[in-house]
Amino acid sequence: MSAGPVVTVGDGDGAPIETVVELRGVTTRFGSQVVHDGLDLDVRRGDLVALIGGSGSGKSVLLREIIGLHRPDAGEVRLLGTDVWRAPQAALAAVRRRFGMMFQEGALFSSLDVATNVATPLREHLDLPEAIVDQLVQLRLALAGLPPDAGAKLPSQLSGGMRKRAAIARALALEPEVLFLDEPTSGLDPITARAFDALLAFLNRDLGITVLVVTHDLDTLFGIARRVVVLGRGRVIADGSLDEVVRVDDPWIQSYFSSRATSAAPSPSDPAAPVKRDGA
Ligand SMILES: Nc1ncnc2c1ncn2[C@@H]1O[C@H](COP(=O)(O)OP(=O)(O)O)[C@@H](O)[C@H]1O
Ligand SMILES: [Mg+2]
Repeated sequence: MSAGPVVTVGDGDGAPIETVVELRGVTTRFGSQVVHDGLDLDVRRGDLVALIGGSGSGKSVLLREIIGLHRPDAGEVRLLGTDVWRAPQAALAAVRRRFGMMFQEGALFSSLDVATNVATPLREHLDLPEAIVDQLVQLRLALAGLPPDAGAKLPSQLSGGMRKRAAIARALALEPEVLFLDEPTSGLDPITARAFDALLAFLNRDLGITVLVVTHDLDTLFGIARRVVVLGRGRVIADGSLDEVVRVDDPWIQSYFSSRATSAAPSPSDPAAPVKRDGA
């Protein structure tokens, strides 16, 4: 019933395109406040989607609903073909092994060293000999761009950028098919933030990981997003390439992008191009 991938459309040469995240009519309320009002969204395998929207528009709550941490008041949430809020526990447990989540602020266990943080999902979900766990941890640290000696450090002993990398190493622990990130570059200096964007682009392009990233960072949008989804008034108010979204006639979208001359933006296919942030 809820098992197996949702194959929706072909891409023309016979290969099916799989919908990794499928939201239908998602409605979320906190008391009298309506955060999501019948929201629909699809994310397909291989996408790198940036989710933007005003503060309080419901981006973080939406991520929590997709990964099974917050129950919507109505609607349907499918992740990797599983109905997150109706599937039996066993189906949910299987899906939990297939995605990684990087929470805002990283949310590492502060009393555990980085290697133990990264090993935690491996120990929780797999029954592996410790020597193999150690090797997998070293691989994940390397993949996230951390030096081997970072594993022995506590999160508080790392720089902000390295802490984010440790958080992504932990999110990558189980070789996820999908990665969800909540404002991963917030609080980073521009150079460190762009290096983090390059890491996301690499994970998406070279490892084929589907990425859904909540961001306030215009440079992330201009640098790496292939698709931009805008939340507003409880729904998706724009969805498309950056070029398409910047032209949408909506006051919030126009004020969001007005701080930046879009014509001077580098193409998303060229993430290495220098990106200049103007203004504050
Ligand atoms: N657990 C909660 N209880 C009550 N209100 C909440 C809760 N979580 C989020 N909200 C409210 O829902 C709205 C959307 O929150 P959030 O998804 O965190 O916004 P953002 O788009 O900035 O990430 C906000 O107004 C927030 O105050
Ligand atoms: Mg948020």
